[in-house]
Amino acid sequence: MFITSMDVIESVQIQNAFLIAWSKAQKVPGRYLERQAQKLFEFALKIPKGTSIVEVGSYRGRSLTLLAQSKNPIISVDPLNPKQVKDAANAARSLERISKQYKNVEWFRVPRVKYLHKGSLIGLLHIDGDHRYPSPMDDFLHFEEHMAPNSFVVFHDFNERHQGVRRAIKELSRRKKFIKEYSGNSLFIGRIVK
Ligand SMILES: C[S@@+](CC[C@H](N)C(=O)[O-])C[C@H]1O[C@@H](n2cnc3c(N)ncnc32)[C@H](O)[C@@H]1O
Repeated sequence: MFITSMDVIESVQIQNAFLIAWSKAQKVPGRYLERQAQKLFEFALKIPKGTSIVEVGSYRGRSLTLLAQSKNPIISVDPLNPKQVKDAANAARSLERISKQYKNVEWFRVPRVKYLHKGSLIGLLHIDGDHRYPSPMDDFLHFEEHMAPNSFVVFHDFNERHQGVRRAIKELSRRKKFIKEYSGNSLFIGRIVK
C-alpha cells in the first residue's frame, strides 16, 4: 500500500485536531488517559455520515468534552447515583456546564435503560458506565438495534481489573458481525457490520 502526501496531510490535521481537543478534555477531572483519548477521538472522526455518538457513563465529562470537539451530535447518560459517585453534585454541575457550552452535546441524568434513542442512527457507542457483568453487555444490547452499519463501539477499561468488560467482549467476539478494529491501552474498539 502506498502512502500519499494527502494521507500525510490528513494525519497531521487529525493529530492537530486531537491536541486541541485534548487540551480542553484534560482540564476535566477523570481517568481517561491521553493515549486512550487519541484512539477514541480518531474513531469519532470516522463515524458514518449523518450518525451520532452515544456515551454511557459521563462522570464529570472528560471523554464527553473530547467527543464534543468532533462536532458530531452526542448524547451522554449517567445517573450519578450519590451512593456510587462520591462527588455526584460537582459532577452534575460539570456536565450541565459542558452541555451548555457545546451545542452538539446533550447530557441526561438517567441510567442507560431509561434512554430510548430518538432520531439519527448511532455511529459510535462509547461504553464507560458500570463495568460489572452484565452491565457492559446490556449497555451494548440496549443500543445495538439503533447502530448504523459500520458503526463503532468503544469499551473503556478493557483490562485485567475489569473482568466484566472482558467477558462482554469475549462473548461479542463470537459473533461474525462484530469485527475487532483495535485493542490496546485498556480500550477495545469493535465495528458493527449489518
Ligand atoms: C468510569 S466513570 C466514566 C468516566 C468518564 N467517561 C470520563 O471520561 O471521565 C463511570 C460512570 O458510569 C456511571 N454509571 C454507572 N451505571 C450507569 C448506568 N447504568 N448508565 C449510565 N451510567 C452509569 C457512573 O455514575 C460513573 O459516573
